[in-house]
Amino acid sequence: MTEIQTFTIGGDLEVGRFGYGAMRITGPGIWGPPQNEAAARELLKHVVQSGVTLIDTADSYGPEVSEKLIAEALHPYPDDLVIATKGGLTRSGPGQWERNCRPDRLKRCCEDSLRRLQLERIDIYQLHAVDPKVPLEDSIGALAELHDEGKIRHVGVCNVSVEELDRARQVVEIVSVQNRYNLADRHSEDVLAVCERDGLGFLPWFPLATGDLARPGGSLDAIARKYGASPAQVALAWLLHHSHVTLPIPGTSSIEHFDENLQAVELELDEEDIATLEEAAARA
Ligand SMILES: NC(=O)c1ccc[n+]([C@@H]2O[C@H](COP(=O)([O-])OP(=O)(O)OC[C@H]3O[C@@H](n4cnc5c(N)ncnc54)[C@H](OP(=O)(O)O)[C@@H]3O)[C@@H](O)[C@H]2O)c1
Repeated sequence: MTEIQTFTIGGDLEVGRFGYGAMRITGPGIWGPPQNEAAARELLKHVVQSGVTLIDTADSYGPEVSEKLIAEALHPYPDDLVIATKGGLTRSGPGQWERNCRPDRLKRCCEDSLRRLQLERIDIYQLHAVDPKVPLEDSIGALAELHDEGKIRHVGVCNVSVEELDRARQVVEIVSVQNRYNLADRHSEDVLAVCERDGLGFLPWFPLATGDLARPGGSLDAIARKYGASPAQVALAWLLHHSHVTLPIPGTSSIEHFDENLQAVELELDEEDIATLEEAAARA
């Protein structure tokens, strides 16, 4: 089994620094069931058998489909498996995502996730987005109440700025942040710096996006060839190297891609290649 380095979230949840993003086990547009539900359950079992101890999902993936498949494939869960789910988005069709982070709705969503995942307590419950129609303090306040009631072990946030993260942390302890972040998109560098300073887990979503860097003959492509690796593996290895608090959660619907991505934890890029990658990314 591949050895995966660990990180402790919230002082008591040890997870491998290579998770699985369960957004891609649905139909197109993250809507409805996947074409082959049995294959999706097989993939989830394979993920856990490969040593992954962190699975990221959300009530809105499908909606409901991803959480249901996780329970069908993996319940009763291994003791060391951490499921991080989210609430705060609603769906009206394929590719459509709307925000609704009213406190009463978040509480209902959490109850529904508990039931679907067949859990008494969710290890990490994340606010999926900040709803401009609802004060952030009210949304996070609902999660704080769920925490006090023992329904949530830890609270995380997604898609926040440094200022929003600070405001959320005034209300309740926040253990993790999930923002879009990858080699080619480093807008959340400032949020990552706060996580690094304070020991919060940082789950970069869309971790495999490499933009033009991976085009044939591009710098990522050249470095990947040098290591006999794929561009996806180099993108993940860079994320793991860049900060000790990053917890990549690459998404895939394929066992083959999952196995390829997992090998990134064993890929060590030398400092010169990392500098080359970062310079190319800054220019792109
Ligand atoms: N908090 C948020 O707002 C938010 C938003 C988006 C995502 N997320 C979370 O973050 C996770 C990761 O994000 P993501 O799924 O958008 O992006 P990603 O992991 O960067 O990319 C997933 C895409 O890349 C493909 N892929 C995966 N491995 C590959 C490989 N080795 N070679 C070629 N293609 C490969 C997948 O297709 P195949 O299925 O064909 O492999 C899929 O289309 C999600 O699963 C979800 O849990 C969170």
